[in-house]
Amino acid sequence: MKEKIEQYLREVGQYSETGAEQVEAFRIRFLGKKGLLNDMFEEFKKAAPTDKKELGQMLNTLKSSVQDKINSLKINTGDKGHHLELNDLTLPVDFTEAGTRHPISIVRNQITEIFARMGYTVAEGPEIEDDWHNFTALNFPPDHPARDMQDTFFVEHNKIHGDIALRTHTSSVQVRTMENNAPPIRQIFPGRVYRNEAISARAHCMFHQVEGLYIDKGVSFADLKQALLVFAREMFGGETQIRLRPSYFPFTEPSAEMDISCNICGGKGCNICKGTGWVEVLGCGMVDPNVLENCGIDSKIYSGFAFGIGIERMTMVKYRINDLRLYFENDVRFLQQFEPVY
Ligand code: DAH
Repeated sequence: MKEKIEQYLREVGQYSETGAEQVEAFRIRFLGKKGLLNDMFEEFKKAAPTDKKELGQMLNTLKSSVQDKINSLKINTGDKGHHLELNDLTLPVDFTEAGTRHPISIVRNQITEIFARMGYTVAEGPEIEDDWHNFTALNFPPDHPARDMQDTFFVEHNKIHGDIALRTHTSSVQVRTMENNAPPIRQIFPGRVYRNEAISARAHCMFHQVEGLYIDKGVSFADLKQALLVFAREMFGGETQIRLRPSYFPFTEPSAEMDISCNICGGKGCNICKGTGWVEVLGCGMVDPNVLENCGIDSKIYSGFAFGIGIERMTMVKYRINDLRLYFENDVRFLQQFEPVY
């Protein structure tokens, strides 16, 4: 009997068929009702008492090695059955591909980090906004042509709040912040904004901005320039030049638009900078005293600056993306080119 058990042990050790049917046949041959192990246990009952200890141990070894074999064969065929606890921990790991962060998120996070180092905290406001926060408090008079500068998606007309619309810029969050906080205020407001534009490579009905606001006693235009220069160099490298062009926004006086030297062609002129060597990236200015007063801040004591950065613009320069539609189409071939998220 001993030899028979040893022979079966060898047979089990060498067995390697992995087909589901063969494994099942193997199981029935050893563990089935009329299987070899039951036969052996019957035979065991008749064995001499002196041999029983050794034979009993051998039979138990045989039984568990059959069971182990079946489990490992099932794992190899992908049938994990009810034996997960016996998974082979030494098997190589399946490689899972990591997703990537969206380029808009990457650049938004960079902008946030740079301003955080300059002491700016982050806040957000609603995307559905009322007329007061999006226009009126920002010094857009009711019939001022400046309202036409932005084509708006109106949501409804509300008796108390007037027009309700998708915000056309993140400047609305400035108003909410100034209404609810006393200076000094040093914050940025990232978010999504909407304009009623036909979608093309250069325009979209939805895009992203980061608004910035700094209000305190004695804040000057020189402070604004310095903050923006530091920001531009942190973002695009220490060689970057900035240029401020006089502009007009109802909520700032004076107002300016900021260009950065084109880091793609190094200022020589390319299709991103339209041959000028400069790329416009943000609007800015000193907060108009009317806006401060509209938000309950005494404009004789406090002054401040604001700016609004276009994230798509920044991303375009950073990654040389020349079609705005790519950002929103969710094409993995585009998205997979950016930094993986681990
Ligand atoms: N809100 C402006 C826009 O959407 C951008 C802007 C310009 C924001 C000047 C500002 C600013 O805070 O001071 O075009």
